[in-house]
Amino acid sequence: MWPVARRRMRCLFLIRSLPFSSHSSSSPSKPQPPRSLYNSLPTLSALKSSPSFPPSISSPAFRAFCSKSGGAMASSQLQNQDYVSYLTQLEAAEIDETLMGPLGFSVDQLMELAGLSVATSIAEVYKPAEYSRVLAICGPGNNGGDGLVAARHLYHFGYKPFVCYPKHTPKPLYNGLVTQLESLSIQFLSVDDLPADLSKDFDILVDAMFGFSFHGTPRPPFDDLIQRLIYLHNYDQTRQKSPVIVSVDIPSGWHVEEGDVTSEGIKPDMLVSLTAPKLCAKKFRGPHHFLGGRFVPPSIAQKYNLHLPPYPGTSMCVRIGKPPQVDISALRENYISPALLEEQLEVDPIDQFRKWFDDAVAAGLREPNAMCLSTTGKDGKPSSRMVLLKGVDRDGFVWYTNYESRKGHQLSENPNASLLFYWEGLHRQVRVEGSVQKVSDEESEQYFHSRPQGSQLGAVVSQQSTVIPGRLVLHHEYKELEEKYSDGSLIPKPKHWGGYRLKPELIEFWQGQPSRLHDRLQYSPQEVSGKRIWKVSRLAP
Ligand SMILES: Cc1cc2nc3c(=O)[nH]c(=O)nc-3n(C[C@H](O)[C@H](O)[C@H](O)COP(=O)(O)O)c2cc1C
Ligand SMILES: *[C@@H]1O[C@H](CO)[C@@H](O)[C@H](O)[C@H]1NC(C)=O
Repeated sequence: MWPVARRRMRCLFLIRSLPFSSHSSSSPSKPQPPRSLYNSLPTLSALKSSPSFPPSISSPAFRAFCSKSGGAMASSQLQNQDYVSYLTQLEAAEIDETLMGPLGFSVDQLMELAGLSVATSIAEVYKPAEYSRVLAICGPGNNGGDGLVAARHLYHFGYKPFVCYPKHTPKPLYNGLVTQLESLSIQFLSVDDLPADLSKDFDILVDAMFGFSFHGTPRPPFDDLIQRLIYLHNYDQTRQKSPVIVSVDIPSGWHVEEGDVTSEGIKPDMLVSLTAPKLCAKKFRGPHHFLGGRFVPPSIAQKYNLHLPPYPGTSMCVRIGKPPQVDISALRENYISPALLEEQLEVDPIDQFRKWFDDAVAAGLREPNAMCLSTTGKDGKPSSRMVLLKGVDRDGFVWYTNYESRKGHQLSENPNASLLFYWEGLHRQVRVEGSVQKVSDEESEQYFHSRPQGSQLGAVVSQQSTVIPGRLVLHHEYKELEEKYSDGSLIPKPKHWGGYRLKPELIEFWQGQPSRLHDRLQYSPQEVSGKRIWKVSRLAP
């Protein structure tokens, strides 16, 4: 059914980075790289990175992270391998034209099925008992039509929908949809009627403003409505009961292919891709990605080489990727974290780390790969700073930096260091201690060249941690180098720049609990008849 590439299984980030390595140029008619279940989540490398360490790492960089000696991943992580095609804007438009041309569909039909898919996807995850008040924000085009249809079905499923449809399209199709909703006494709210703060009055916000054919900048009143959805997400994501955002096909304001270009767009909790996901869906980081629009005939699937998960039974929707391990919506509701129990732990702490890392990604936390690195020199005085995790496998945790920086000097004096992850939204921290080694020059080399040119130049220019006379010095040097390499020639990796790998000797998983009775489980290595195994101890909070 789904192609499987087991030989790649051992390397988390290689697998994860694959679907991101071919951007808008990728076409579903080209063979797509195999996807594991990890691919439903963004790659570590694709996550938004700090300005000094921008993303866009292509897959070769991670090949070297694969541990040749490492054990196989937990069997649960080997199941469910699927890979999914993504459509360019042009392909999506072509498919629509084919459906509505030679294949004989009408817009009304497709809209009905699309809207039904959105409603059933919502009902799969958000039960009406907890999430009854739905606001469907509908744009003037087909996407808005999908939203109107979804609102009608949600009504029949037991929700209480409201509709904000500020730009009625005066066509029989849309008039009919409005009449149908009115006859159900569904309330239409004008933008002025809407509360400024949408968080109190609604449980679900359906973003049905713009679809894949939209380009340009959203105009009033949609620009403001989009801002309100963005603002909502700036709320603490778990402590406050705030409504969930469900985007229809494309989060409004996102680029159809590039995604959330400014990183300041809507961050939906659920995305319902219709027909097939558009390229921007690769950048979706929320917990629930669904596919709907169960009307694609085999002829189209073949022509566009579409790989899509099969719809189960009679369902109008299917989940893409694996469900989050933590019920984020439940967390949001009462912010009581699930207990961390010994019997749930993976045997290997790296597997446990990956599980928690996946949860952090699924929870939509920002920069879940940011970690605090603490080092000491021979004077024994500790110093800390944030760095970004760029790989993890059986051999350890990898980050990149300047070997002549302060941390570099300290590590050369004392290879013992510690890492700390804090995932606030999940009330979790992970502490890792161990000894650090440089990664091979080859590995650093590969990673260096996978970075965007700007970051490569930045690394050349910055003698990290040295005193400089002013910021302009850097900019001048940068400009000079930019010109020097404007022909696209290879920028040599500075000798003093590369990766470190911390091999864990101690890993603690901390899960916040009520009344400060937190769960702390610590892995430490133990020799048992000549074999090294991980022992787990529970520590008092
Ligand atoms: C979120 C975040 C991520 C960072 N990632 C890195 C990184 O991956 N590598 C790095 O050298 N510096 C990174 N930095 C900058 C470091 O914190 C630090 O300023 C720099 O490495 C110099 O540290 P040092 O003087 O102790 O060597 C990051 C900073 C932040 C806030
Ligand atoms: C680093 O830790 C090891 C034990 O893991 C210890 O033997 C060694 O002395 C430490 N190095 C320094 C410089 O403290």
